[in-house]
Formats: sequence, C-alpha cells, structure tokens
Amino acid sequence: MKGIILAGGAGSRLYPLTLVASKQLQAVYDKPMVYYPLTTLIENGVKEFCLISTPYDLPRFKQLFQNSAAWGITIEYREQAKPAGIAQAFLIADSFIGKDNVTLVLGDNIFYGGDAFGRTFEAFNGGATIFGYQVNDPERYGVVEFDADGQAISLEEKPRNPKSKFAVPGLYIYDNEVVAITKALKPSARGALEITDVNIEYLKAGKLRVSKLSRGFAWLDAGTSTSLHEASAYIQTIEKRQGIKIGCPEEAAFRRGFISLQQFDSLIKQVPNCEYREYLERVAAEALSK
Ligand code: DAU
Repeated sequence: MKGIILAGGAGSRLYPLTLVASKQLQAVYDKPMVYYPLTTLIENGVKEFCLISTPYDLPRFKQLFQNSAAWGITIEYREQAKPAGIAQAFLIADSFIGKDNVTLVLGDNIFYGGDAFGRTFEAFNGGATIFGYQVNDPERYGVVEFDADGQAISLEEKPRNPKSKFAVPGLYIYDNEVVAITKALKPSARGALEITDVNIEYLKAGKLRVSKLSRGFAWLDAGTSTSLHEASAYIQTIEKRQGIKIGCPEEAAFRRGFISLQQFDSLIKQVPNCEYREYLERVAAEALSK
C-alpha cells in the first residue's frame, strides 16, 4: 500500500502564521502538524510515501524530512502548482502509485485513539474504504448518510442541510482504480477535483465501504487558529497524563518493525539533546528491557 500525504493548499485561514510556513508545518504542541498523519500511516504499515505540496513549501518539507530514510521509509516529493482539489493528488502521484493500492491522508488531519484504522487496513481488499465520524458541525465536511442497516447511501460535500452528523475524515483507502476514476472526473463548480466525487463513483459502483469511527476516537481539526490551539492542548493533555508521545514517526517506525533496535539507537544519536530525544531513549530502553 502506497501513501500520499497532501500538504498543500492556501492556508489562508491561519494568516499571518502561514506567511512563512504552510499550515501543515505549524506546531501542534511539540511537533509539526504533518508528523501526526504521517505517523498514523506508518502505524498502519505504510512505508512508501509521496508528499505533495506547493512549489513554495516543498523545500521546507524536504528539509523537515531530511533524515527520514533512517526511519525505514521513503518519501518522494511532488508539486501541486495550484490547489485544484484533493483528488488531483492521484493524478500528480500517478507514476508513484503505479499498480498499487493507495491511501491518502490530508496533512492537517490528526487522529488519536485505539486501533480504529489497523483492522481496516488489514481487511482492505479492493474498492474504497472511507470513514465516518460524528461531529457537531457536519456542514463543514464531506457528509455520509447511512440507511437503517448502516450501509452508506449518499455522500455530499459541505451540504447546507446535512443528511446526517457523520463527517468523512481526511483519510481514504483506494484500490488502483482510483487513478482512472479521477482521470474521468469533471471539476466541481468551484473548479476543483473533489475527493467526495471520487467516493461517489465508488458508491455508485457498489464498491465503497464506510467504517464508523467509535465515540472514544479523536479526530482533530487544526485548520483555524482556535482549533490549532485546541488540538495542541489536547495533545499536551494526553502526552502529559500518559507519558507518551502522539505523532512520533521514529517510535512508530520502530514499533512497526521498519527499523531494528540498533537502527533506532543510532538514529536517536543524531537527535539533539532535548525532551524529544529523552522520550526516544526511553522507548528504546523499555524495548531493551523486555
Ligand atoms: O478534513 C476532512 C475534509 O477535508 C473532508 O470531510 C472533505 O470532504 C474534504 O473536501 C476536505 O474538506 P476541507 O474543507 O478541509 O478541504 P480543504 O480545501 O481545506 O483541504 C484540506 C487539506 O488539503 C488542506 O490542508 C489543504 C490540502 N489541499 C487542499 C486542496 C483543495 C491541498 O493540498 N491541495 C488542494 O488542492
């Protein structure tokens, strides 16, 4: 399974923060925002990534991930000249996807709790799988409607009158058909290739699975100054209470077996003395003592 991280867009809602660094590079408590969705995919076994961003921001992502080969992953970088829709990612990454299945995660989506995705990634065997998460303000998102048996029956992008409270988070899993489906897609009224239109095609073909995320699961939005602050506070609360780190790609790569304890140890030596390094050292020490 290949992984795409979409981390472009205008980021205008976070102005003036985004004058110098894109939204996905902003800090969510103690890490850059993009670490969180990257870690989610690593936790689910994805090793090969394509990161898509604007021509302006891409060099900064390359700088951020300069040592990522030591995490046992590869990252290819591709430009999106203009924010012409989330689904455009499949056209930009066409040659990267090749003949594989692909998962797309939005660089500003933060997930935490349980093993909600793990089972889905393991069970994936074609078509498309997306998720449904109950929110208070579904009109801000893609919205999925279910019938009495829990089957998805409609999908709408930012509807004025949402048919349910279930929003579709920015993590999607597709078979290789997604490239052909996107190529045949027409831009929406706002001139974008909409991810919801891709999902509607799968729904029409009877190949869409929508998995409901449980109530205890956290899907955080960090798209406005307020929600960015709230996401930071949430991460800080959990990290402090449990003595763990959320969104730590080095740890995820080690736990997933992408790198050995020895490799983990040597990458830790490259990290400057700081709280982040102390945490990694603790993870390594705990693994050694088992
Ligand atoms: O967060 C989940 C929601 O993401 C879904 O429920 C919606 O169905 C989906 O359309 C999307 O809605 P947003 O309003 O959040 O989309 P936005 O245009 O803000 O883009 C989401 C992220 O993707 C954002 O960080 C910027 C990036 N992006 C977006 C577009 C349109 C790109 O990198 N390139 C693009 O062309």
